[in-house]
Amino acid sequence: MDEMSTSEEGDVVRFKRLAAERAVDAIQPGMVVGLGTGSTAAFVVRRLAALRAEGKLTDVVGVPTSVETEALARSLGVPLTTLEEHPVVDLTIDGADEVDPALRLIKGGGGALLREKIVAEASRRELIVVDVGKLSPRLGTRWPVPVEVLPFGWRSQALFLEGLGARITRREGRDGSPYRTDQGNFILDCAFGPLKHPEELAVRLDARAGIMAHGLFIGLTSELLIAGPTGVESRRSS
Ligand code: A5P
Repeated sequence: MDEMSTSEEGDVVRFKRLAAERAVDAIQPGMVVGLGTGSTAAFVVRRLAALRAEGKLTDVVGVPTSVETEALARSLGVPLTTLEEHPVVDLTIDGADEVDPALRLIKGGGGALLREKIVAEASRRELIVVDVGKLSPRLGTRWPVPVEVLPFGWRSQALFLEGLGARITRREGRDGSPYRTDQGNFILDCAFGPLKHPEELAVRLDARAGIMAHGLFIGLTSELLIAGPTGVESRRSS
């Protein structure tokens, strides 16, 4: 890796941290807070833990969106709750893989899309935190759409998705075996290319038995915080 790319990578991590830490400013005492998944959301959990250590926001409880986030929060002493105890979440802070100008998202790069979407839909506010590199003119330009499918009949889902125009890759774990989500399902990464009508695709995916979730998050973002070289910028859904 040359010096330039090392520094660019450092910037991306710094931007993720900046956006995440700014988002934590939106947390009020006593809130139930959805804790997203991924490297950006991990900065949220770490910041929350640091504030707790200073005696701030000690009555805030988190709803983790993945086993990974649950483990991180527990290791840092951030108190957790469940949607069973708190079916309405005040505020969720989560990352994204790709964001378009209408604040529509592709999520699920880290495999946590179903729980992330359940928590997002249960949230009064969904605050999305990204580095500027996640912005995209059209969803599908930078990332495939992750689709979580039940292992039962997964090849039928792959054929269905190919019929919709996707090039399919079944996600694999580090050991080369099929990646399993927190629910034990597979993920089919679906390269559609830039999507002209993400809503229409979302409707088709939502209607298919065996598809448990997809990474198109449409109409769920309340506010977006984007961190880049000029600082943190906020965009709200209209
Ligand atoms: C997790 O499955 C995803 O939806 C993440 O929110 C997304 O991949 C963002 O990850 P980073 O913050 O690590 O870029």
